[in-house]
Parts: sequence; C-alpha cells; structure tokens
Amino acid sequence: MVSIAWSEAFSVGNPLLDSDHRILFDLLVQLFDATDTGQSRDVVGSVLSALSEYAEHHFRREEAMMAASGYPGLEAHKAEHRQLEAHVRDICGRYRAGERGAVDEQVVELLKKWLTQHIQVTDKSYRPWVERVVDGGAKPPSEKLGDGRQS
Ligand SMILES: [Fe+2]
Repeated sequence: MVSIAWSEAFSVGNPLLDSDHRILFDLLVQLFDATDTGQSRDVVGSVLSALSEYAEHHFRREEAMMAASGYPGLEAHKAEHRQLEAHVRDICGRYRAGERGAVDEQVVELLKKWLTQHIQVTDKSYRPWVERVVDGGAKPPSEKLGDGRQS
C-alpha cells in the first residue's frame, strides 16, 4: 500500500504550489489504487496521463515563480523537472505500448520517493525567494541567506 499525504512539513510557503503538490500526491495515490485494484488499462492509463499532464503544468508554474523571484538555482531545478518529465513520459509510452509492468507498486513507490525528496530539498530551497515575490517585492533574500549582500 502506498501511503502519501501532504502535511505542513511539505509546505514551500506558497498556497498555490502547496495545492499543486497536494494534487500530485492525490494522483499518485489514485495511480497506486488503480493498479492495486486491477482496474482496466483505460483507467490506469488515464490516471497516468493525468499525473503526467499535471506534473508538467505544475513544473511550469513553479519555474515561472522561481524566474520572477530571480532565484539563482532555477536552471538546476528545471533540469530535475525535465528528468522526471522524461521518466514519466517513458512510463506512459511503455504502458500504452502494452507493457503492463510499466506501472506497478515499485514504479509508484519510486515516483513517490522522487516527489517527496524533491519537495523537501529542491523545492524548499526557493522558499525565501518565492515568498518575497508573493510579498510584493522581487528582491533577493540576502539577509536570510546571510551572504552580506544589500537587499
Ligand atoms: Fe520543483
């Protein structure tokens, strides 16, 4: 059983991005349930497509916010997103081609591990920057980083 639930521990300090992350968690649970309960190829395939599409939609939104905040880690962060997108697209392609094992408990566990680690490490790094944009200013959070730059 894959258990994954969003909690405040996953908050990146932005309600829209937090809500995207909750939706991605829900889609992962749906994907697991669909495979675990032996749903038809159409059902599993449509949950998989929804997960892939929502992940891409969310990544674009997150990247736009990081860009607007002047976050310096944007390119490395985008590279992580592209890797996951390619991985999920590969899973979708193999599933559509008839490889039933393309989606199983192990695959869902790996996706869950990727997403939780990505949120807790990579996403949380942009928090002080994105919070500044939401606060109405796009100044670098220099005092929070303690790097001596003037804000
Ligand atoms: Fe991210």
